[in-house]
Order: sequence, then structure tokens, then C-alpha cells
Amino acid sequence: MNTAPILAAQIVFDDDGTPRSIEHGDIYHPRDGALAQAKHVFLEDGALAERWRGRDRFVILETGFGLGNNFLATLAAWRADPARCRHLHFLSIEQSPPTRTTIAGVPRDAALAPLAEELALRWPPLTCNLHRLSFDGGAVELLLAFGSAAAWLPQLIATVDAVFLDGFAPARNPSLWEPRLFRAIARLAAAGASVATWSAARAVRDGLASAGFAVERAVGAGEKRDITRGRFSPGFVPRTTLRRAHAVAPARHGVGDERRADVVIVGAGLAGCALADALAARGLRSLLLERHTDVAAEASGNPAAIFRGVVHRADGRHARFHRAAALAAADAVQGAIERHAIPGSTEGLLRLETELDIAVMREVVAAQALPPEYVAALDSEAASRLAGVRLRFAAWHYRRGGWVDPRALARAWLADAGERARVVFGVAAATILRKGADWCVGDEHGMPIATAAALVVCDGAGALLGERVWPVRRQRGQIGVIAAASLPRGALPRLPIAGHGHALPPIDGRVWFGSATSWDDDDGDLRWPEQQSNVDRLAALLGLDATPRLDRLAGRVGFRWSSEDRLPIVGAVPAEFVESVAPRPAVARPTRRDQPRFIARAPGLFVFGALGSRGVASASLGAQMLAATIAGSPVPAEADLVDAVDPARFLSRRFRSAEAERERRADEDQPPVGSIAGSLGG
Ligand SMILES: Cc1cc2nc3c(=O)[nH]c(=O)nc-3n(C[C@H](O)[C@H](O)[C@H](O)COP(=O)(O)OP(=O)(O)OC[C@H]3O[C@@H](n4cnc5c(N)ncnc54)[C@H](O)[C@@H]3O)c2cc1C
Ligand SMILES: C[S@@+](CC[C@H](N)C(=O)[O-])C[C@H]1O[C@@H](n2cnc3c(N)ncnc32)[C@H](O)[C@@H]1O
Repeated sequence: MNTAPILAAQIVFDDDGTPRSIEHGDIYHPRDGALAQAKHVFLEDGALAERWRGRDRFVILETGFGLGNNFLATLAAWRADPARCRHLHFLSIEQSPPTRTTIAGVPRDAALAPLAEELALRWPPLTCNLHRLSFDGGAVELLLAFGSAAAWLPQLIATVDAVFLDGFAPARNPSLWEPRLFRAIARLAAAGASVATWSAARAVRDGLASAGFAVERAVGAGEKRDITRGRFSPGFVPRTTLRRAHAVAPARHGVGDERRADVVIVGAGLAGCALADALAARGLRSLLLERHTDVAAEASGNPAAIFRGVVHRADGRHARFHRAAALAAADAVQGAIERHAIPGSTEGLLRLETELDIAVMREVVAAQALPPEYVAALDSEAASRLAGVRLRFAAWHYRRGGWVDPRALARAWLADAGERARVVFGVAAATILRKGADWCVGDEHGMPIATAAALVVCDGAGALLGERVWPVRRQRGQIGVIAAASLPRGALPRLPIAGHGHALPPIDGRVWFGSATSWDDDDGDLRWPEQQSNVDRLAALLGLDATPRLDRLAGRVGFRWSSEDRLPIVGAVPAEFVESVAPRPAVARPTRRDQPRFIARAPGLFVFGALGSRGVASASLGAQMLAATIAGSPVPAEADLVDAVDPARFLSRRFRSAEAERERRADEDQPPVGSIAGSLGG
């Protein structure tokens, strides 16, 4: 998806207090209030709630989040309904979002004002992302897509039960009422999904009808005589494809079977524990199998890990994935600090910039309209003031970056999952086998350890699926630690500093720093040369005049897995990787291999690994994406990013380069045009 800068809404207020968009010259809601319209038009005077009753999940899609009144009215109705669905997902697209101050301060109906405060507390930075906001312990999920509806709708992965169309008047806001948007919405609609809008414009009804909605005029309220309502009932049902349909039905728990898991997870590091929590929030139970006697005993076992976003001029997939991941990590870490008092901070991080000068950095920020709530470009003086130490370079200030104790975070995720996650320690998974509709995990003797409809391999990089089915490499990393008292006064940073290496603020009187790395190196012992290079980096990062002396080796060695494109591997496993243990799915085999989404998968088998040097952030976002895929709930990332981390991407890439090579050879084999002409003429 091409990202476009997100600019905040410019709002003025009419004399009666009704908010008006300067850009569109129209009011956000009728003068008699947003709540009355939301109740009558969108909540259908209670009829919408009747449809969510008794259901596990109900999904609403809105075009035009605006000030969030429809969302707040829906949240209020859901909270007030004793028979409400267990999970409510509200997906909304907004091109010009309000700022947090506007969300908190705009005049609202009295019933919605307290809910607006909750929304403001969670309000994300205005970046082009699909932001995930969680309410009511995860039972309500608001997915906010900042950007144009035309760009976002084709990128959403969801099956929607109700659609709220809430643009400004079509004449003032044609971009939100185009027929192609209605077709894109139809692609997401479940059979029988409802559509509602306050507009009774003929063009709107016609556009919806041609997209497959049976529409009718309904009685309006207040200033509106008529409104439009409809149901999705297309004339033909499109051929079902394998595209991204990987949801697994939850286990049916019989009497005495309450502990049966829906999902077995191999590995209880950051990936496995984050996933267990994200599945639990969607009502699924997991059983984690871990070969050690504690969680996070391998790569995830460092005492402190940093997290931050990425800024890149082209804002490509890498920058976008890591921006989304860093924002997800900030929410996860903040929540764990608040609920479980784990060691960590989301108070910011400074990334030193050694290549671009400050003017160029500012240009990049301005061109992408990146808000200071996400990142700011600071010259070395401003960065030094923030850090509390003398920095020699300009820096990117990631406002919600920070650090965390990853083992404590993994434990917090499991605690949040509660009874829906159970860990069995001291068991090493060695085999997997498809048995009927289940996956069976066995030990080294092939004895069954656990069985479930879904299996997720979170063992680092998917080794359980066979040696190197993906292009991944293992990297040794060594971090060091020094007593804070042995560093000079004025050399202790207040924020984590990253650059060539990283240094953390003092934790319990000690400063952690790192990381010296080497590839394909299995030595688990601390080494002096790495210690020395780490200390040199520390001195450079903190601007020390002399390198501190360390007379004993102190720190930790760990091993992390990375993929060849430095993005994690998250999603359903291609069927061809496991043909020996699972027959191919009994669906027609798609012929296309040029895009990952066309490649056939082993049903119920997933991988989540290769988190590289960004385990905290990639675990936070990847877990939400994968849990949504498994549960069949809306995926909190755009399709492009789902493809970017798809385990099948390497097969598609290989296929595309083989095709290109074949075409090149075919061109070479053709006789030159001149010689054809010559032979014809001769
Ligand atoms: C030196 C170093 C510094 C780092 N610094 C940072 C940092 O500052 N910020 C950051 O975000 N990331 C950092 N990382 C990266 C981060 O630690 C990793 O990306 C992350 O921990 C990987 O998590 P994981 O759950 O995929 O793997 P792991 O934590 O390795 O978890 C895999 C788990 O699976 C278990 N397992 C494996 N095979 C089996 C089996 N067959 N049966 C049962 N259990 C099995 C293992 O015992 C392990 O517990 C660093 C890594 C290193 C090494
Ligand atoms: C009437 S307001 C929505 C009111 C909102 N539903 C509420 O409950 O407060 C219309 C919204 O659509 C947004 N919008 C207009 N054109 C858009 C587009 N092409 N893509 C996404 N959002 C758009 C506007 O910025 C505005 O916030």
C-alpha cells in the first residue's frame, strides 16, 4: 500500500456548537446530536443489537470515524446489553483523524462524554497504520485505519456483519461514496451483512445495489426525512479461494474435556507467550510446550531489551511493519507495566543518526508528516538534553519507544491469558503428525505429547518443521553489564540510546549495553573480544572521553534467528513443506505461485519466528496478526504487511525470479529480428 501523510482534521464549531470540517465544509453530525443519529440510523433502534446477541463475534465496518461518536454509541449499547456478543470488533477508516485533544475535548452528548475519555487515553499517534485499541479487557477491539478509504478497503482482511457509511454529504465528500468503494466493501461483507447510512441519495442507493446490496429507503429522524438501509445479497457468490482463509474452529469442549486446548504452541519465548495472550483475548485456549523449566529461557532471556520504530525515506514494508510493531509493543509494555509492575519504560528512546544530517532528517519527517507522538528529528543538543548525557550525533526520538525485561513481559502475557493458557515445562517437541483434523505433537520417541486443531511453531525459526525450510540464519549476540557507579558522573542516560550498539539507563544500579554479534557461531560462553567491542560502543554512544575499564566478563550470550529479508515469519505453513507428515488439503490446487496468498497451506499449521533483533516489537504485532488469522477475526494489519511476513513469501519470490530467468533465456534463444527478416526474405 502506498502510504500518504496523515494530516489532522481541521475543525471549527458553528454558533450552536456543531463541529464542522473546514476541508469538506460540512458538519460532522446533525444539529440535534450525534447520539440520536447513531441510535436510529446505525444501531437501528436496537435491531443491530438483536443480531449480535448470543454470538461469539460481531464485526462492524465504518467509513469515516470522524469524532468517534458512532463507535462510542455502539460501545455504550454493547456494554448495556446483558446478551451482548462476546467479542465486538469495530473497524473504521479515517483520512483526517482528530487529535487526542479534540477527541477528549469536543462537545458531545452527555452519555458519550465519559466513553470519549477512555478513547482519548488510548488515542494513537496520527500515522498511516491500522491502529488497534482494546477495551473491556480485549472483548472490544477498535481497529482504526488512518488514511483514505480507497487505499484501505482493499487492504483489510475481515468478514463484516454490519457496515456504517458515514461520510459527509456526497456532494461535498465524493471520495467516500464512490461505486468502487461499495464494491470493495462488498468483498468484506458476510452473507446478509447490513448496510446503513443517513444519506438517501439516489447515487448511493444505486452504487450499493450494483455492489450486491438489496437496499431500501427507511424513515429518517430529526432533519432527515429518509435514510438508506440494506442487506448484502449478491446475485452470485464469488468462487471461494484459498486466499487467507486459515481460521481454525475452536475445539468443542465436552464434559471432562475442559482442559483441551484449541491451539498447541511449541516454545514459550516472547513469540509463544504473546500469541497465547492474543489467542486468549479472542476466546481461544492454548497449551504451550516448553523444553526449559521457565519461560523465555533462550533468546528472550536477556534482562533488558529495547524497542522502537523505523523511519525510512520510502516508507516501504520494512519501515511500515516496524512502525506498526513498535506502536503495538508500546501498548503491550505499557499495559504490562500498569497491570503487573514489570520492569520497563515506554518513555522514549533515542536512535543516533550517523549518516543523515539534521536538515535531511527534518525533511523526511515533514514529507511523511510523522507526528512527534511517534518520532521527532532532534539535533545533538536537543537529544543530549533529553538523554541527560552528551551525544555527538543528531537523533531520532521515538516518543513511545523504550525498554522492557522480556522475560517479565512474557510472564505478564501469560498472566493476562489466565486460564486460557497452560504451559507444560520440560518437554521437547520432536515430531508433528496430522491425525484426522488435528495436529499431534510427539516427543523424540514419537510418543504423543499434545493434540489440537491448530499447531503453532514458536521455537525460534521453525526448526520443528524440518531443517531450514526457510532462508533463516542464527546470530550469536553478546551483551555486557557494568556497575552504574563505575561510569563517570553525567554519563548515565535517562533514556535508552541506540546507534552502533545500545545502552540502557541504569536498572538496579547497573547499565546494560551491547550487542557484539557474529553469524553461525555456537559458542555460548562470554568472550573478551566481544566484551571489549561492546565497551568501545558504550563509550562512543555515551560520548565518553575514555573507555571504561572492565576487569571481569559480565553479561549474557544469546542466539537469535533472522530471515533473509529481516522481517519475521508469521502465518500459515505452505503445504509443500510438510507433505511427508500431512496430506495436501483436499481443495483444488491453485495454479498461481507469484503471490504468497495463492500458495496452498497445511490446514491448522502455523509458524511464528525469525524475530531477529526486534523480538519485543515483532512479537507484539505478529501475535495479534496470527491470533486474528487463527480465530478468523479482523486482522490488525494491512494485507501488504501480512504478505510481507507470510511464510510463503520465499516460495513466491523464488518462483518469480525463476520466471524472470525463463523469460530472459527465452528472449536469448529467439533469433534476432534481423535474421528472421533475412531468412524470410531469402
Ligand atoms: C544478544 C541479544 C540481544 C537482543 N536484544 C534485543 C533488543 O534489545 N530488543 C529486541 O526487541 N530484541 C532483542 N533481541 C532479539 C530477541 O531476543 C528475539 O528476537 C526474541 O527473543 C525471539 O523470541 P522467540 O520467542 O522467537 O524465540 P525464543 O525466545 O528463543 O523462544 C523459543 C522457545 O522455544 C523453545 N523451544 C525450541 N524448540 C523447542 C522444542 N522442540 N520443544 C519445546 N520447546 C522448544 C525454546 O526453549 C525457547 O524457549 C536480542 C537477542 C539477542 C540474542
Ligand atoms: C461525517 S464525518 C464522520 C462522523 C463519525 N462517524 C462520527 O461518528 O463522529 C465523515 C468523516 O469521513 C472522513 N472522510 C472523508 N473522506 C474520506 C475518505 N476518502 N477516506 C476516509 N475518510 C474520509 C472525514 O475526515 C470525516 O471525519
